[in-house]
Amino acid sequence: MKKEIAVIILAAGKSTRMKSELPKVLHPLCGRPMLGYVLDLVAGLKPKQVVAVLGHKHELVRKIIPKGAKIAIQKKLSGTAEAVKAGLSALKGFKGTVLVLYGDNPLLKKETLKKLLDYHLENNVDTTLLTAKLKKPFGYGRIMRDKYSSICGIVEEKDADEVQQDIKEINTGIMVFKKDSLEGNLKYIRPNNRKKEYYLTDIIEILAKNDYLVDGVKAEDAQEVLGINTRAELAKANSLMQKTINDKLMQDGVTILDPASTFINFGTKIGMDTVIYPFTVIERGVKIGKRCSVGPFAHLREDVSLGDNVRVGNFIEIVRAKIGAKTLVKHFSYLGDSSVGSSVNIGAGAVTANFDGLKKNHTVIKDNVNIGSDTVIVAPAKIGKFAVTGAGSVITKNVPEGVVVAGVPARILKKR
Ligand code: UD1
Ligand code: CA
Repeated sequence: MKKEIAVIILAAGKSTRMKSELPKVLHPLCGRPMLGYVLDLVAGLKPKQVVAVLGHKHELVRKIIPKGAKIAIQKKLSGTAEAVKAGLSALKGFKGTVLVLYGDNPLLKKETLKKLLDYHLENNVDTTLLTAKLKKPFGYGRIMRDKYSSICGIVEEKDADEVQQDIKEINTGIMVFKKDSLEGNLKYIRPNNRKKEYYLTDIIEILAKNDYLVDGVKAEDAQEVLGINTRAELAKANSLMQKTINDKLMQDGVTILDPASTFINFGTKIGMDTVIYPFTVIERGVKIGKRCSVGPFAHLREDVSLGDNVRVGNFIEIVRAKIGAKTLVKHFSYLGDSSVGSSVNIGAGAVTANFDGLKKNHTVIKDNVNIGSDTVIVAPAKIGKFAVTGAGSVITKNVPEGVVVAGVPARILKKR
């Protein structure tokens, strides 16, 4: 691909069908806003320019737009053609190829886009659409082809008659244009449809009728082009994205006993030979070392890192905590805001009481400590190396190195 490429990402729309106060493109998939995946994909193409078209609650959406990208505001949400117009206003002086992407297509793969762009450039056409064949095309614009089987237009679901609704080839929304052909013809689009909006899709009929070259490339994997409009589609996309994340981890040497019941967010790092048991939730940014075991029924939340050979068992919640190598937390515990050393044993039911009603407090547990079952550590507290807490102790102050404490509140019984 030698030619210069600019990308316009449409992300101005409301969340009407999601029935949500949060803009649709910020709804997360595996712990990350769906638009984030589209932005990553675009960055991977290394285009000359990127414009994100924002509108509804743009002050929220712009927070995730990278610095190198321009932002164009679509003031009136009057349809995808108007959104593209807003995007083009940020591309004055640019000559070349314009790729239009929708912010609600997070599963799209780079290879597919490359294929589309290569085809477009090699054949020197005015526009190339990415289409797909779906068994159930409901909700998508349908691709209309003439008797020579050339694309001659797109009809939206709401405006399609019964025959058109039977068409299985759909518009994925991903289109490439020669900039001039796009810019010069947007003005002919009229809001003659059920929604009274300016549809970008109408440009295809305009171009075809005026002898511009219109072509299409079919996406091989129909799931990749899923556009998310509803919560049900969000759930579907989430499970597809989860599968991609889990597959990649397994490829890298992590055992996931039951991928279907294992929820690992985007951006997690897990070392080789670690085993993840079923019904485990691992949130964004968690780091897990080599040869660990996690779960079943474990919940690792934000800012957690586990060293090598750590074992986190059932009914454990850990948040904002660093756990050293060879430490065991095996049965129903909560560790929050904690730094735990290596070779520590956290007995069954031990809990850090990190919240005093106003703020979160920190717990430090040094190497080789043995925390007895049902110990409650009222933070802030520090437990020195080789210390032992008796079953049921309530720790209310720092415990020195190498002592045994017990009781409520815990007192020193002896040196170890
Ligand atoms: C659109 C296509 C449809 C295609 C489908 C693929 C149109 C008219 N229809 O329908 O042919 O099959 O995507 O998923 O384009 N947006 C704006 N400004 C607006 C309206 C929308 O920026 O004024 C953005 C939205 O934020 C969204 C994208 O454009 O990211 C698509 O809009 P959406 O309403 O989801 O279009 P669909 O009905 O799904
Ligand atoms: Ca959509």
